[in-house]
Amino acid sequence: MIATVRPFDLEPDGVQPPYDFPAYTSTQKRAPKRAPIHVAHSLSEITGPSFGANWSEPIASDLTHQGKGEPLGERIIVEGRVIDGDGRPLRGTLLELWQANAAGRYVHKRDQHDAPLDPNFLGAGHAITDDDGGFRFLTIKPGAYPWRNSHNAWRPAHIHFSVFGAGFASRLITQMYFPGDPLLALDPIYNSIPDAGARERLISRYDPELSQAEYALGYRFDIVLRGPRSTPLENRT
Ligand SMILES: [Fe+2]
Repeated sequence: MIATVRPFDLEPDGVQPPYDFPAYTSTQKRAPKRAPIHVAHSLSEITGPSFGANWSEPIASDLTHQGKGEPLGERIIVEGRVIDGDGRPLRGTLLELWQANAAGRYVHKRDQHDAPLDPNFLGAGHAITDDDGGFRFLTIKPGAYPWRNSHNAWRPAHIHFSVFGAGFASRLITQMYFPGDPLLALDPIYNSIPDAGARERLISRYDPELSQAEYALGYRFDIVLRGPRSTPLENRT
């Protein structure tokens, strides 16, 4: 019997950002100038760790109850699936999230933006995807924040996501944006992705069905790991 190996679905050109994008100034320093050196992965790097459904507490995906009181800002639900190019779910994967607070400030010593910290908001959480590849976070809509890429540059509101994958060597990172943000057209990180359709896949979709009456607005965001509908990623090699 001859086994048939189906090749991976290749994504079209223009989905992934280049390493060096001059308008995003720090890429000029960190883009590799030499060909990569192949370093073989060890077994432990490609086979683990793995996460069971009980690995994470449900509270880890609720960023609105990390302090003594509730954080300030617009409460949002972010729900979606992590899937491959054929729509198959990535089950039991660790999905991590980090973001600024409603005023556009991170809890990080290097963030010196002149905006208030919120004692009730840490801005980090995680979830393990369910059997359908699904995840759900309750959080606060992040604010825009200035960065020193150029004079008067502001990052559009965004949430960082990390997909852990099957092991340490397969972690992928991306950013989710919000519909209708006027800063998107000016943002060099967002615009470093050449393909317009790929850029739009980084924008979450407002979903009135997901919104919870009198409580929170709902946004949907799927992360597609491969194929023609794949999500642009920051650290793909
Ligand atoms: Fe950020």
